[in-house]
Amino acid sequence: MSARRMLIAGNWKMNGLCADGLALAKDITARAAAGAPRCDLLVCPPATLLCSVGEAIAGSAVALGGQDCAAAEKGAFTGDVSAEMLKDAGCAYVILGHSERRQMHAESDAQVRDKVAAAWRAGLVAILCVGETRAEREAGQEQAVCCSQLSGSLPDGADAARLVIAYEPVWAIGTGLTPTLADITDIHRAIRAAIPAGTRILYGGSVNPRNAAEILALNEVDGALVGGASLKGEDFWAIAEACG
Ligand code: 13P
Repeated sequence: MSARRMLIAGNWKMNGLCADGLALAKDITARAAAGAPRCDLLVCPPATLLCSVGEAIAGSAVALGGQDCAAAEKGAFTGDVSAEMLKDAGCAYVILGHSERRQMHAESDAQVRDKVAAAWRAGLVAILCVGETRAEREAGQEQAVCCSQLSGSLPDGADAARLVIAYEPVWAIGTGLTPTLADITDIHRAIRAAIPAGTRILYGGSVNPRNAAEILALNEVDGALVGGASLKGEDFWAIAEACG
């Protein structure tokens, strides 16, 4: 385990109606209150639940984050949510450049970079996601792809207090597949060489209560960005407990 404080972040993606989202938030908050977490905890619900989940976790050890934001502060951008709006709703973090945004919404590095700048403008910590596809991995290009996404998506002026990187190989998301521990270490090292000292690097992609301990024990891994397993309080908490 490194000197950097671990962060376990739940990306709920497009899951959760009011009742189950609130129940999940309360469940995680109760576990955190009873269990003295050894890591920072973050939940990133869909935008519709930010305010109610924010109220449910207020005063707890669990922080609130958004899953995306617009680059602009306000204006005629139907359907978008600005970083200032996330901040106003109680968010401390925002996930940006997730592969589902890059792939399904064709977000470019330049657009992601503008969103990271917007997050900083609003006083949010940006969780910037990078990761290669299966074809890129098979071609041995994983480090080049991640470093290129990083250099294209990271504005000038980065510092460890307002930046977290999430390495999420696209082929590992929701598939039950994970890279080897050595592969995770190699990529995290390559990423670390390109970011300010002290910046946390999370691993994401099929993290679950069974594989969390060995992944989180890696010196280069400062936490996890968890999708599916973050939708069950018990599993999310088990991953948090796996922080040494
Ligand atoms: P899974 O944990 O479901 O593989 O999702 C990972 C992810 O995309 C988190 O952002």
